Amino acid sequence: MITATTVDEVRSFVKKQKSEGKTVGLVPTMGFLHEGHASLVKKSVEMCDVTVVSVFVNPTQFAPNEDFDAYPRDFKRDCALLESCGADLVFHPEASEMYAEDFTTGVTMDVLSKTLCGKTRPIHFNGVCTVVSKLFNIVTPDKAFFGQKDAQQLAIIKRMVRDLNFDIEIVGCPIVREEDGLAKSSRNTYLNADERKAALCLSQSVAIGKKMAEEGVSDTETILAAMRAHIEKEPLAKIDYVEAVDGVTMQPTEKVKDGVLFAMAVYIGKTRLIDNFIV
Ligand code: PAF
Repeated sequence: MITATTVDEVRSFVKKQKSEGKTVGLVPTMGFLHEGHASLVKKSVEMCDVTVVSVFVNPTQFAPNEDFDAYPRDFKRDCALLESCGADLVFHPEASEMYAEDFTTGVTMDVLSKTLCGKTRPIHFNGVCTVVSKLFNIVTPDKAFFGQKDAQQLAIIKRMVRDLNFDIEIVGCPIVREEDGLAKSSRNTYLNADERKAALCLSQSVAIGKKMAEEGVSDTETILAAMRAHIEKEPLAKIDYVEAVDGVTMQPTEKVKDGVLFAMAVYIGKTRLIDNFIV
């Protein structure tokens, strides 16, 4: 596996692959990789001739009060995992390679970014759209792979690709969970032993909601009330939101139907975790 730190290195690698008629897959990540990321890389290896993975903790998607500095990093371990999954190139730039000092252009996302996580993190999705556009322009992949755990991010990227005519297929991949149900996340590493136990209230609440939807409960509010009630029983948990939205527009919806996204963000101690299911 090649390690590239500059845009030029990535461009010449991709150019060569494309001149040989190969298809390119991109998996954008912020590193501290786990089996969720591994599943995206494996999917790309399966579907594309060549797989590029970016490992870059993107400063523009963190507000000043958020965990940019504390965000876990372990590039050596990431590389070992990526090699074992069959990635061909890892792009690991410095922030200065991605953002010139006088960088002043960005991609903004309206409407879809105003609900769910966007309410608590108002600048987050503009930062995500900007860095992902830059990665798309640098790597020019045929396909790009994103996890369903960040369901709002996935919907937003799909919309951005449509709105800005990127010639890239976005492939969404299922949530990967720990054996006890907790969705895999780089932020799980912040949890102490009691918080780790308490964090199960998210996946348990997802299971409650999913069962009710499968059993035919037809209004989202009844399901949301049961999901919230379960989380509220956990003393270490504080709900940021538990909501139901249309899976494409990210706007609130009252009726349970195919494509409705039930999503939550919950603080366990100081750690903000997310989880979701789609009907
Ligand atoms: O999902 C993430 O890890 C990040 O938001 C992404 C897509 C790599 C952009 O920085």
